Amino acid sequence: MPDQTLAVSKICCIGAGYVGGPTMAMIAHKCPHIDVKVVDINADRIAQWNSDQLPVYEPGLDDIVQQCRGKNLSFTTAIDDSIRAADMVFISVNTPTKMFGVGAGRAANLEFVEKCARRIAEVSEGHKIVVEKSTLPVRTAEAVKRILANSDNAATFDVLSNPEFLAEGTAIEDLLAPDRVLIGGERAEAIEALVSVYANWVSRDRLLTTNLWSSELSKLTANAFLAQRVSSINAISALCEATEADVDEVASAIGTDSRIGPKFLKASVGFGGSCFQKDILNLVYLCEYFGLPQVAEYWEQVVKMNDYQKQRFVTRMVRTMFNTVSDKKIGIWGFAFKKDTNDTRESAAIYVCRDLLLEKARLCIYDPQVSREHILRDLRSIFTEGDGVISDAKQKLIDEHVSFASSCEEASADAHAIAVLTEWDEFADADFDAIFDSMKKPAFVFDGRNKLKAMDLQGKGFEYHGIGF
Ligand code: UDX
Ligand code: ADP
Repeated sequence: MPDQTLAVSKICCIGAGYVGGPTMAMIAHKCPHIDVKVVDINADRIAQWNSDQLPVYEPGLDDIVQQCRGKNLSFTTAIDDSIRAADMVFISVNTPTKMFGVGAGRAANLEFVEKCARRIAEVSEGHKIVVEKSTLPVRTAEAVKRILANSDNAATFDVLSNPEFLAEGTAIEDLLAPDRVLIGGERAEAIEALVSVYANWVSRDRLLTTNLWSSELSKLTANAFLAQRVSSINAISALCEATEADVDEVASAIGTDSRIGPKFLKASVGFGGSCFQKDILNLVYLCEYFGLPQVAEYWEQVVKMNDYQKQRFVTRMVRTMFNTVSDKKIGIWGFAFKKDTNDTRESAAIYVCRDLLLEKARLCIYDPQVSREHILRDLRSIFTEGDGVISDAKQKLIDEHVSFASSCEEASADAHAIAVLTEWDEFADADFDAIFDSMKKPAFVFDGRNKLKAMDLQGKGFEYHGIGF
């Protein structure tokens, strides 16, 4: 390894997604002396990053991109040139759960990461620091290192792990003032090079350095702990519904215990997002691989509880609506996996809509940020069989039973029920008197986020059911 000062003046990030885009925009914003290039094989996505309609909806992101784009931030499909010119290359590509072969349904699919490593090995010259940003199973850095070691160009590499802890919807806040930035690595000079990038805006006591494996495992563990809190409170929500307890009261009572704390105790229709389920399944796979079946089973239960919560929501709707929703219009409020994002990966809404469609309900969907095409793609995908084909019957179900609205009022007109699946703030401002008048009676509201709990919908005539009371 060369003994040189590892100054960073050019960064290339492979992957212009929900993580790569906002993270690089923040680095460019806070480090005007660094040239940041974000590359992707998806030319449409790059074109969107270069337009006024960014592919990622994230409060505050547009401003930062507009300030830096064309100065020290660019989005391009010139992958090889950008890698070649960079001192530091971030790998920020997707690592979905593997759906085939060994580890199917559990292990992470590292195909895209491996392709990036091979590309970097092929085009690099001199020395580069390669930073893993994607969520990866423990010991992936080892694989990346081995691929890079086989570079034909006598290039040399340091590999660092720098897991992302930003949450969608608050990505800019999280990037601006992170609780901590974790950097795992082997060589002090390489770690210091990345520390010095973040030190432009994050105080050094928040820049934690560890060995590579601790850093990789910390990301999976953080997400497993957060998801476990949500599944725990959701488990209690089922008990609350069977008793006279109210889950929000229970959550605030236990949250005041400083050992427990108030965050991630909001009972809901189920957690979603690109990380929680994937990372836990990944952890489960690792535990099984390392001969720890009891540990694997312990964490797998968090995902099973989440599946149960989504199913339970639909079962409760059907039972309450006289045991049938067949041919009944249901207004679906929200499709994103949480508010303030246009991301729907693993959104509870996908599973709730699937189960309602299987009950032959007619869905009218409204989400302020998710496009109709995107929702249709998700629904087609959830009904697609293992061979990649959707049956005529399922396609017909979507074609004939799904429609879209441009507001919550429109989604609910003439409906038997409303199902609130995302906690968008604007839902609380809906015209509930007009909505009640336009609905069939009894006018049911099933609130999967307890977003409308304080609105006295019962007093306005609705039959209101939330989670956990
Ligand atoms: C998560 C981690 O928080 C973040 O650190 C990591 O980098 C990526 O994964 P994200 O998936 O973007 O972030 O969102 P998060 O706010 O964690 O919410 C995940 C899911 O849990 C959402 O569906 C949310 O609605 C749900 N949730 C969260 C609850 O149901 N109740 C809660 O109390 C908190
Ligand atoms: P995340 O939430 O982790 O950011 P996304 O799916 O939003 O995930 O983004 C990952 C991006 O990585 C996608 O835009 C995808 O096209 C890109 N990508 C995947 N493989 C490669 C590759 N080999 N080279 C360049 N970009 C890639």
